[in-house]
Amino acid sequence: MPKIFHGNGPWATLDTGIAGPRDASALLDAGFRDGWAILVEDGIIVESDTPDVLRARHPDSETTDLGDSLVTPGLVDPHTHPVFTGTREDEFEMRNQGHDYVAIAKAGGGIRNSARRLRASSEDELVADLRARCDGFLALGTTTIEAKSGYGLSTESELASLRAIRRVDADHPLDLVPTFLGAHEIPDEYREDREGYIALLIDEMLPRVAEENLAEACDVFCEEHVFTVDESRRILGRARALGMKVKLHADEIRPLGGAELAAELGALSADHLVAVSDEGLDRMRESGVVPILLPATSLYLNLASDAPGKKMLDRGLAPALATDFNPGSSPTRSLPLVMTFACLKYGMTAAQALGAATWNAACAIGREGKVGTLADGALADLVVWDLPNLRSLPYRFGESFVSRVLKRGEWCFERAGA
Ligand code: NIG
Ligand code: FE
Repeated sequence: MPKIFHGNGPWATLDTGIAGPRDASALLDAGFRDGWAILVEDGIIVESDTPDVLRARHPDSETTDLGDSLVTPGLVDPHTHPVFTGTREDEFEMRNQGHDYVAIAKAGGGIRNSARRLRASSEDELVADLRARCDGFLALGTTTIEAKSGYGLSTESELASLRAIRRVDADHPLDLVPTFLGAHEIPDEYREDREGYIALLIDEMLPRVAEENLAEACDVFCEEHVFTVDESRRILGRARALGMKVKLHADEIRPLGGAELAAELGALSADHLVAVSDEGLDRMRESGVVPILLPATSLYLNLASDAPGKKMLDRGLAPALATDFNPGSSPTRSLPLVMTFACLKYGMTAAQALGAATWNAACAIGREGKVGTLADGALADLVVWDLPNLRSLPYRFGESFVSRVLKRGEWCFERAGA
């Protein structure tokens, strides 16, 4: 039976009719309706209108009243690393005592620390850990995530990580969009033979990933202590030839030219961008690359500066927001927290931050119009917030105000007592 979900509160539908990633002025319009209703069939929004009109048109539908609360699309997190084993609170403490993130990585910590642990896990263990972590995303209002591999760094462990993502996506309400990130670090056994690891990525891992259709995109950590621009170009070029979309961890710590490479390759997104050049920003805008801002990471790494989010908005780019959820540089799943940081650090309004964590985030993972909007044809994913208006969403922080979460037309989270 078709279902109607209706409410009398403010609905930020993001349904504004503007196609493609949205710039600062387009983001100001969150598609507000003062009271709204959607008709859902098979998990998809098939019609929307005012509550009275929609109910009169479909009198036989099952109806649910969402009351006077704020309603938004389910949030979309376009950059996460959720497949890992163990945590790294020891490194958090070391950094706070003055040790440097890159120095810890070079000394064998960081991503290689996580890789040693993940390699000791079976695929079933990875699935169990990942499944448990997915519940936390839903509880914070996120209904779709991009999920990277990248803590295996061997053919076997990278494939196991991607298979774990596929298995959890199949039976957990959260949607996971898989990205292959074998080029996240040079593993211990290839420290003296980086060319050997790049050959493994290009000649063995990528073809296997493509053959099993395990990833929609390929990502590379392009940074001074990891993969150079030329190495990234080779790896991503192979991925593209195998039919994958490409993404980049670009210019996070040093201005290497990762943003320029993302533009050259027509990447879906370039992420981090703390040290991006003005030239890189202009090239990204011209090529339609979505910049993904990760303000929780720059804060958590205590970096001296942050990505020029305000400058991106002023120059006509269309940024998205993400948590970068991972065990090293950003152990948070909270997009509402990231939205608060984006308002504080980049001068975003609440509507701009929401649009960056829904509509633009969907564009950054190839899901435009399918998620991150309450337009007809999108998945029936929405969040009912225990908040009276959209401005309250980034204004409140450090607590969750998610009341209920609908995924594909089914309730998948309800706060106790809500
Ligand atoms: O996006 N920058 C590269 N990768 C992760 C960090 C990984 C880690 O420290 O475990 C990131 O921040
Ligand atoms: Fe990352």
